Amino acid sequence: MRLPEPALIVLIGPSGAGKSTWAAGRYRAQEIVSSDGLRGVVGSGPNDLDASIDAFALLESIVDARLGRGLTTVVDTLGLDAGRRRRWLDVASRAGLATVAVLFDTPAEECRRRNAARDRPVPARVLADQIKRHRGIRSDIEAEGWGLVVRLDQESAAPVPRIEAAGPDPDRRGSHGLRVFLQVSRFPWGAEPIAWLRDVAVAADEAGFAGLAVMDHLIQIPQVGRAWDPIPEPWVALGALAALNTGLQLGTLCTPVTFRPPGITAKAAATLSALTGGRSFLGVGAGWWAREHAVFGLSFPGPRERLDELERGIVTMKALFAPGTKAFSGDGVELPETTCYPRPGGAIPIIVGGNGNRTLQIAARHGDACNLTTSDPDRVLERLAVLRRYGDPKVTVLDTTVVGRDRDDVWARVEKHRGRIPAAAFAKRSNAGTVDEHRHRFAELAELGVSDVFVATPDLGGAEAVADLAGLTA
Ligand code: CTP
Ligand code: MG
Repeated sequence: MRLPEPALIVLIGPSGAGKSTWAAGRYRAQEIVSSDGLRGVVGSGPNDLDASIDAFALLESIVDARLGRGLTTVVDTLGLDAGRRRRWLDVASRAGLATVAVLFDTPAEECRRRNAARDRPVPARVLADQIKRHRGIRSDIEAEGWGLVVRLDQESAAPVPRIEAAGPDPDRRGSHGLRVFLQVSRFPWGAEPIAWLRDVAVAADEAGFAGLAVMDHLIQIPQVGRAWDPIPEPWVALGALAALNTGLQLGTLCTPVTFRPPGITAKAAATLSALTGGRSFLGVGAGWWAREHAVFGLSFPGPRERLDELERGIVTMKALFAPGTKAFSGDGVELPETTCYPRPGGAIPIIVGGNGNRTLQIAARHGDACNLTTSDPDRVLERLAVLRRYGDPKVTVLDTTVVGRDRDDVWARVEKHRGRIPAAAFAKRSNAGTVDEHRHRFAELAELGVSDVFVATPDLGGAEAVADLAGLTA
């Protein structure tokens, strides 16, 4: 069961129902606001009932502060007070968070048994009263307006099931249904460029990535780093990786057609394909950043002209990849002959990057795949509807994301990278999550018809960071 995020999650159940245990297995300590915990903060311990008024005053103010920032908040109390529930629901709804009521329908005898085993059991009469009140509110909950009501019996209170890893796939498709590529967009290689590149690629191969894509920009883009950070010419960098004995597909994501005449890009991709025995792909786009063009003395025409160039560029590349040397004429491209040796070592998939309607039309008409720069399922669906009007190429997505070992690690990374963006907004925008959460997301994307995901993370410091991502490919 996957719960929405960010969300207000209110736990409802008698003592010993397993509320705190359930919450601790799924959420970070800071995300859980517990009346027992706060009794221990302002009183002598979690069972200090004399501290209840102070503990609940604190609880309400913590709930308000967190929800106001759009942060996931789990309220761990008995949940039996309808007035409090209504207030939390109201605050969360106004803050635009999803709302979830989790009812713990643990059998009464199990609650009693667990209660009896505790250091300071709740008196039997009190527990009996809680159990009775809990039964009474089960039907009220439906009418309260929760976004989602989850009922847990003893069984389903167990931890979230994992997607089991399948055996190795020659295509390197994960058991979630996607091939996962590593998108390398930052190069913190210090004084050892070639060692850094080699180690990252070997780690990606060992981690089961289907391929490695290098970003193609002339200056590091502000979304990723500083203008003086190294950003290599990608075909030269890929040439170095071609010398490694990996099974990785290698290519760019994306090469703007404005950087090099398309025939020259075709030459580079064909050479890479020959050197790797057919392991090259070619991401192409219309380019978008005026500054890098100006600095490198390249012209940067308007969007329509660039898209025309993209279309003619792909036609040219495909003509040069095709067998034989005959003349080519069509789609605005005239070539007196198509002599391009060495021949590619295999088919070179052309992946067209971008979300615009015209870009999708070009991908469908001339490309082998599109690469959407969104991995949001609703947006992907909406773009697919447009794409399918024009044709049926493969669908790949660029997933600029944050991946953590566990929930604490995820939020530490969000805090590190969010800059001035509020944490909740950054986490949502970057799909921040654990490896397991990403695997569920990938399964959802596969269901929509996506075939490959290119994962770009801001934490790609080197080979160890790549190894940490291994779970994504299983
Ligand atoms: N427990 C268990 N199996 C579960 C859940 C809980 O054996 N699936 C045990 C816990 O280890 C704990 C006891 O049952 O010793 C009560 O669980 P807890 O999560 O603390 O219950 P709560 O609903 O939080 O109880 P309270 O309202 O008293 O805080
Ligand atoms: Mg508890």
